[in-house]
Amino acid sequence: MHHHQMKALVLSGGAGTRLRPLTYTGAKQLVPVANKPILFYVLENIAAAGIRDVGLVISPETGQEVMESVGNGSRWGLNAEYILQERPLGLAHAVLTAKDYLKASPFLMYLGDNLIGCRVRGEVEQFLQDESVSAAIFLKAVQNPRAFGVAVTNGDGQVVDLVEKPVNPPSNLALVGIYLFRPEIFEAIDHIHPSARGELEITDAISWLIKNGRRVESHIIHTWWLDTGKKDDLLLANDTVMDDWLKTHIAGSVDAHSQVTGRVHIDDGAQLIRSVVRGPVIIGAGAKLVEATIGPFTAIGPGVLIERSTVDHSVIMEGCHIRDIARLENSVLGRRVKVCPTSTPHGAISLMVGDDCVIEVRG
Ligand code: G1P
Repeated sequence: MHHHQMKALVLSGGAGTRLRPLTYTGAKQLVPVANKPILFYVLENIAAAGIRDVGLVISPETGQEVMESVGNGSRWGLNAEYILQERPLGLAHAVLTAKDYLKASPFLMYLGDNLIGCRVRGEVEQFLQDESVSAAIFLKAVQNPRAFGVAVTNGDGQVVDLVEKPVNPPSNLALVGIYLFRPEIFEAIDHIHPSARGELEITDAISWLIKNGRRVESHIIHTWWLDTGKKDDLLLANDTVMDDWLKTHIAGSVDAHSQVTGRVHIDDGAQLIRSVVRGPVIIGAGAKLVEATIGPFTAIGPGVLIERSTVDHSVIMEGCHIRDIARLENSVLGRRVKVCPTSTPHGAISLMVGDDCVIEVRG
């Protein structure tokens, strides 16, 4: 069943400062987890909730790349439209920017860099059925609530207080970036002012609803919610998604001298030559492994070449080349990175790296 009256709004702009250097050359929503952009998991979840119409809020910096990856949305059975937010003035500002697109529809707002381990269809249906609820938010108990919007709920799950990035968090329930709204959110946004960081906060708009007697419901997420902000978070996101969702699928070629064990996904056109792969591992289209030992918990992007090297617990993105490396582990390599032994006669390290990269070598 499809919900024709409901729309989705996916926020896919933003600078992605925390994911530098990966986000110097691309949108943070397109960073791959198990070889698939985070944004695609978001769109799958929206489609699974029975929603068809999706507006993607994009920024001038990365909008083109987002449009090229998502297209018209037909791959997910969605009708995708794009809304340009000229400047990053906050989540509530993004909602205002999308006013002409949303019109009078209730909508599911989803931050395009959020990854959760469950569907939201039940919550969407509940929201559509009960028009006395103004807004609904998704919450997750976290260790570091100061980094998020934080909610206080009463015994029935109704939200009684909400505060953005509190110094003294009133609870450990963080706002996961998934929200359900009705058009009255526009009235709330009209009443708020930019925060200390100069943004119109959606958290403040929802607070306004509460303070004006509207009902705001909450849903606690009991599965994982992944923040892909830093290297270790990105590795953890890959581990979790591969652990939960990866299925064995072997479309590429595995020669008689190679050995594949555990859950391993090998895309079409990938080649394993005299290599050992221990799942969970995903290997993208056209990747070539020659005398390589890979895994567990490793994502090898499309077109990657790995020769005579061991790679463990890592994310190796599209077009990388790793050659003659005894052991590479706990690493994230952006696109087209090359790692090979030093060719200086005295064994000095020789680097060609961009801004904000982190290199850990024996000192
Ligand atoms: C935003 C929201 C915050 C929420 C978080 C979830 O924060 O303002 O309330 O908890 O997303 O990822 P930001 O990422 O803009 O700092």
